[in-house]
Parts: sequence; C-alpha cells; structure tokens
Amino acid sequence: MGRALRVLIGMGPTREPIDPVRFISNYSTGYMGARLAAEALARGHQVTVVNGPSRERLSRGIRAIPVEQAREMERTLRQEARKADAIIMAAAVSDFRPVRCAASKLPRRNRLRLSLEATPDILARLPRRQGQVIAGFALETAAVLSRARRKLRRKRLDLLVAQWAAQDRPPFGRRRVRAWLLARDGTTKALGDVSKPAVARVLLDKVEALWYGQRGSTKNHHATAARRRQRIHPH
Ligand code: CTP
Repeated sequence: MGRALRVLIGMGPTREPIDPVRFISNYSTGYMGARLAAEALARGHQVTVVNGPSRERLSRGIRAIPVEQAREMERTLRQEARKADAIIMAAAVSDFRPVRCAASKLPRRNRLRLSLEATPDILARLPRRQGQVIAGFALETAAVLSRARRKLRRKRLDLLVAQWAAQDRPPFGRRRVRAWLLARDGTTKALGDVSKPAVARVLLDKVEALWYGQRGSTKNHHATAARRRQRIHPH
C-alpha cells in the first residue's frame, strides 16, 4: 500500500488586533478546513492543522496548532510546510490588519480612523519542495473562473477550489457552495452546488491522484479514491 501522506491544512479566520479587546476578522467558521482534516484522517493520512479561531471540533487523531493572527499563521505554516507532502490552504486570512495595535483599550469617541495594511499572502509565499501537492481556495463574486485561473498561476498552485459568492449566497459555515475544481494542467471541473464534505472528498481524491500518480505507483489509496469518486460525484 502507498504510504500515508503528511497533510498540512490551514483553516479558519485570523484575528488582527486593534487594541487589547478588539480585532478585525471575517465570517469564516473553519468548517471547510475541519471537513478536509476529517476526510484526510479517515483516509489514513497524517494530518496537521494550523487553525485560526474556530468552534469546529477536530478529532483527537489530528494534530492541531491554534493561531490567531495572520503573522502567526504564516510563521507556523512555513515551519510545518517543510515536513508536508500536501498543503491545503483553506484559511480565510484577514487581508488587512491595523498598522499598530493600541497598547490600551481605545476609549469611545465619535469617530475612529484606523490605518490598515495588507497582510502577507501566506500561500503565495510558502516555501515549496519538489513534488509537494499544493492546493488553495478562491472566493469570487464575479468572473469566477478567469480570476480563479489567474490566482492558481500567481500562487503557484497544483489545485484550486473556486467558490462563487453572492450577497444573498454567503459561502460560510455549513451551507452548500457553488464550486469548481481547477488544476494546474488547465482542466476545470464544475462541482455544481455541493456540500463542504463533498468538496473535501473531491479535493482529496485529486490530491491523492496527483501525489501517487506522479510517483507512478498503483496504490490502495488510488482504489479508495476511485470508489469515492463514483459514490459522491457531485453533479
Ligand atoms: N490566502 C493566503 N494569505 C492571504 C490571503 C489569502 O494564504 N493573506 C490564501 C487563502 O487561504 C486561499 C487563497 O489564498 O487559499 C485565495 O484566497 P482569496 O481570499 O480568494 O484571494 P486573495 O489572494 O485574498 O485575493 P482577492 O481577495 O484579491 O480576491
């Protein structure tokens, strides 16, 4: 049987502090990352999760490293990336953070101006090892496929799950999402309106296919992936 993969997953939101009691964040719940971690564990892989604040339960077989800010998430993922065979970045990193965190609680006032700066693009800057499989997510409100394709190239990914988000269709939590799976070889697979557990299965099928495929071996993991594909093909 093929050896289990060391799968590293980034999940959940990040929190960027304004002062000791306030932060900037987003609506991410960590559900997608938790489903990915559970699916990878169920397939016998060795799973490490770097998780931003989330109420999702992670089973005991998963090694979880909790973080809060984008800065910490980046540091931890960079350390862990070296040891990973596959990296799946499902975290909703806050794109902006206050330039400075106030040392004490800001008193109430009529107006507060915050100065924000961009956080680093963690995924794009991760160090890569030859043969690693790298997957990301993209959330788009328009021109989903062309933007997602550009993101896949810019961030040097093997796989990217593009999700469509509209005002009345927020993609957070347990909702179904409209999604596509893009691969570096130029292929795009429409997944339709899918649940996040289904996205996790399809993505892990593809991660396994790339990993074991590029090693030219016939693996049990392959057979499992094929069986699962038949069972859950999400059209
Ligand atoms: N990502 C990251 N670090 C960031 C922002 C995003 O690692 N600071 C990762 C996400 O985890 C995801 C991918 O990059 O896997 C795409 O995230 P998305 O928010 O769609 O893209 P952005 O690069 O933030 O681009 P934009 O917001 O302009 O669409």
